Amino acid sequence: MSKIRTSPSSQYEYISKFIKNEQHSCFEKIRDSAPAELSHMQITSVEGSILRWLVATQQPTLALEIGTFVGYSTAWLADHMHYDSTLISIEKSYERLELAKRNIERCHFKCEIQLLLNDGKSKEERDANLRKILEKYGDNFGLIFCDGAKAEYINYFQTTSKYLKKGGLFIADNVTSFHSCTSDIGNAIDAFNSYVCSNDAFDTTIIPTCDGLMIARKK
Ligand SMILES: C[S@@+](CC[C@H](N)C(=O)[O-])C[C@H]1O[C@@H](n2cnc3c(N)ncnc32)[C@H](O)[C@@H]1O
Repeated sequence: MSKIRTSPSSQYEYISKFIKNEQHSCFEKIRDSAPAELSHMQITSVEGSILRWLVATQQPTLALEIGTFVGYSTAWLADHMHYDSTLISIEKSYERLELAKRNIERCHFKCEIQLLLNDGKSKEERDANLRKILEKYGDNFGLIFCDGAKAEYINYFQTTSKYLKKGGLFIADNVTSFHSCTSDIGNAIDAFNSYVCSNDAFDTTIIPTCDGLMIARKK
């Protein structure tokens, strides 16, 4: 029998039909609140359901997201977190973070959600702010989702991964988005992929979603 190949978008549409989401309309309102020209920066519902599934299996009491934008991925991460757990999400833009706060409030999640501004002017300043947040909580993070500036992915990994518990997950979006470009971002993501995948302290895989989702588990 011959195989029928589906394009990623029709495959995505097909999968989306089966994803259960009790808060569907609340999530869609968050997604639609993003400026239309920037809407593509958000994860898809398929990636969201993968994140939610990873949270459900991992049961982190503490999780971190880098790159809140208007809160869509934050909502997927928060959906299956327990009432006694905390999700911290950081964002560089004040306006986006304020919108995310209004969006997230409307969904009434069980866990505590802290949406924090990291508007340092330089990479070094933003890194120092991130370090302060991490130091406050110590090495108790069960899950870290990285979706901030692509050129800073290696930095994020180097700064945050030591705060992951044994068995904790470092997840990064967009790790295949630029694989066919020889741009600065493409090179930075390439270097990040090589760096994490060759790190013996982590068990790493890349799921070929639209944009590529890396999952690295601390051994
Ligand atoms: C791709 S968007 C995030 C999309 C969001 N995770 C979603 O799927 O709904 C990247 C966001 O990261 C923010 N950002 C960039 N560098 C950052 C940093 N160092 N710390 C926090 N946020 C950052 C940008 O302002 C932007 O809103």
